[in-house]
Amino acid sequence: MNCRDRLEALTGLLRPWSGLWSRSILQNWPESGAAYPEAWLSYAESLDEAGERMMDHGALPGVPPPSLHSLLLALHELTGLPWHPGVQPLTAADVQGLTAKKTHELERVLALLGQRAQTIRQAVDIGGGMGHLARLCVRTFDWTFHSIDRDAALQEKGRDWLRRARMLPREKLCFIHATVEEGPQPGIDPLFSGQNSASIGLHTCGPLALTQIRKSQKAGFLLNFGCCYDKLDPTRDYPASRFGKTHPLPLTRHALALTARGRHQKTEAEFALMKQVYAQRFALDLLLRRKFPELGFVRAGDAPKALYAQSFAAYAHDRLERLRIDTSMTDSELNAFELSVRTETRRIFLCHLLRDRFARALEVVILLDRAILMEEMGFQAELLQVFEPRLSPRNIALIASRAA
Ligand SMILES: C[S@@+](CC[C@H](N)C(=O)[O-])C[C@H]1O[C@@H](n2cnc3c(N)ncnc32)[C@H](O)[C@@H]1O
Repeated sequence: MNCRDRLEALTGLLRPWSGLWSRSILQNWPESGAAYPEAWLSYAESLDEAGERMMDHGALPGVPPPSLHSLLLALHELTGLPWHPGVQPLTAADVQGLTAKKTHELERVLALLGQRAQTIRQAVDIGGGMGHLARLCVRTFDWTFHSIDRDAALQEKGRDWLRRARMLPREKLCFIHATVEEGPQPGIDPLFSGQNSASIGLHTCGPLALTQIRKSQKAGFLLNFGCCYDKLDPTRDYPASRFGKTHPLPLTRHALALTARGRHQKTEAEFALMKQVYAQRFALDLLLRRKFPELGFVRAGDAPKALYAQSFAAYAHDRLERLRIDTSMTDSELNAFELSVRTETRRIFLCHLLRDRFARALEVVILLDRAILMEEMGFQAELLQVFEPRLSPRNIALIASRAA
């Protein structure tokens, strides 16, 4: 399916459910809960913990309501992007000091570039950090490579790696300390230009991906992995393509934050921790609403991880102290309150599980819009999954080559 058809189908599927994914559940509770079909909530309430976990993985055990079942099937089909095959194994010396995630990413990106970028002779990496990709590309493909980053300390570490590297034409790798911005930057813009030039961005945060795309109009090849979509400005950065503007979605701040929740399958322990965190947080929210309605929605912030496993009273005392709110409640009163609202906090939790089903689809919408922007700039563009989501959840590559 081409990018435009996929975007049209996906936005058509998501639009009627924007009441669920575009708003925060907690901030708008209980009205936010009313947007969830009663049949979906009753089904979710019928699940035990194993069933909840299955739903968190995208499965629907038992007999789900037909509307939920068909929606999830359609979302699954439209977000099921093809995979890029291939791994270029690195040696133990290459990966010494690198995390498993970074090694995994580098082995797959090198394989991808080896297959897709055969006419390339020079490359530029936006947000290249320590320049691991740059160093390996110079060695593997003999490219001239410029690695740009605004973090000078990271680049200095990268120079150390370079000094230690063997069998490498070091003069071919150049670190440039600069902040890449919208608008003309005569010092770096020429690096993005040329039929034999590749423009690379490996996990460019928020709008930096769009800056890379706009700077790369005259490049021969572009590879981008986006991340941190919550840093996008929903009015400025989406939709970016002309076609996207004719099929827009209300991607609010809350919807953008949801895109980062399209995660790998959680382990039993991860799921249990998420449940604990939510249960404590939701109970505190309900407590503050009842006792201090005049405060409106109160941001509780993150508590130390260990506190979530303790009693509600321990968690609540910590947060209330930080917020300088005195409820004058004893530990047993706080714990009794938490017990009294368990049915409601579970309902809020189940709404979150249901809302999370939209996360990957919203991410794919943002990326399809970017791919279509590349097409509108005269490139052939596609989206492929490259990384194992468990190791690197923002795993979709935007790959574009100048159309012949
Ligand atoms: C998520 S890290 C990715 C680093 C590297 N590409 C990798 O995959 O390991 C983002 C990097 O982009 C850099 N960065 C963010 N915004 C930038 C900008 N506007 N100009 C240059 N570098 C930027 C940060 O300093 C950071 O090193």
